[in-house]
Amino acid sequence: MTNNLTASGLVNSASRSSASVDKAHASSHNTTDYFKALYQRDVVLQVDKLTQSFDQGGSKKVILKDVSLQIHEREFVCVIGPSGCGKSTLGRIIAGLDAYPSGKVIVDKEVVKGPSASRGMVFQGYTLFPWKTVKQNVMFGPIMEGRSKSNAERSAREWLDIVGLSKYENHYPHQLSGGMKQRVAIARALINEPKVLVMDEPFGALDPYTRQKMQKHLLDLWRNIDITIVFITHDMDEAVLLSDRIVVLKANPGEVQDIIEVPLARPRDPDIVTDSRFLQLKARINNIVHNPQPQPDFDPALAEMPDIPRMVPLDKKDQQINH
Ligand SMILES: Nc1ncnc2c1ncn2[C@@H]1O[C@H](COP(=O)(O)OP(=O)(O)OP(=O)(O)O)[C@@H](O)[C@H]1O
Ligand SMILES: [Mg+2]
Repeated sequence: MTNNLTASGLVNSASRSSASVDKAHASSHNTTDYFKALYQRDVVLQVDKLTQSFDQGGSKKVILKDVSLQIHEREFVCVIGPSGCGKSTLGRIIAGLDAYPSGKVIVDKEVVKGPSASRGMVFQGYTLFPWKTVKQNVMFGPIMEGRSKSNAERSAREWLDIVGLSKYENHYPHQLSGGMKQRVAIARALINEPKVLVMDEPFGALDPYTRQKMQKHLLDLWRNIDITIVFITHDMDEAVLLSDRIVVLKANPGEVQDIIEVPLARPRDPDIVTDSRFLQLKARINNIVHNPQPQPDFDPALAEMPDIPRMVPLDKKDQQINH
């Protein structure tokens, strides 16, 4: 792909070049074949023995320990794990926003040493520039790259069309709903044609209805463009709905507990969450995630909750009330 490729060109050429992959998506009832084909694609993101630690309370705390992953072209991978296990830390390192002391992160054959156009990022918090219009927000990357204003404007309009926000190009972020802001954020990331898009709980602040719509929109986008997505979420339904594979991190320190294939045929619709095969799979994955293991943070006192004696006398009428 070249930087001068228009958004529609990117979408069209990507759908053409990956026709066989899309076909596999559309009819992949044989999920074994689907994963066989997936693993034959090039590795676009490689994380090798990644370790990260931070100073906390005067001492170094290891947050990520020996995290290793291989993610293939056009794969959709979700990362789940308990709060504080290091999901965002991992996402920020892949995006090139944070340095890492040991291990290796390679995206599209280049060692990650800082931010680059090959990696896009969408966060949960709305991170649009409030003083710029929707169109100016989306144009930001291409302008920074040195493209002409008219060229950047043309691409921005195409991407806004793709995310369904053409009518809002002159609005400011405060005039948009949460879902619309995230669509602008997605367009702003995709206009740079990244190889890998890291999304850190991008729909976490949306109401359930908008969230479902956004999940479907993202799946449609992903099916039709040449992009690999690393999607961080707390939500198991979301992880199963979206993923080819789910990376489960455990906490203290953050290590890869398991990498689980999601053998559900594509395309998937958000309604699939009530399907019995989806529920069975979710139960199986829940079992893996909550597999009884030593839980260092588990408070044993919770298991022995005492009966609480009444500490103040009840007056007469309160004695009638049975709590
Ligand atoms: N810049 C930093 N300096 C010090 N500690 C940090 C820094 N960034 C993250 N941490 C710590 O690293 C740990 C992991 O944080 P991180 O935000 O990656 O977790 P998370 O899995 O994304 O959690 P959540 O699910 O709540 O978003 C936390 O204990 C956090 O306090
Ligand atoms: Mg986080």
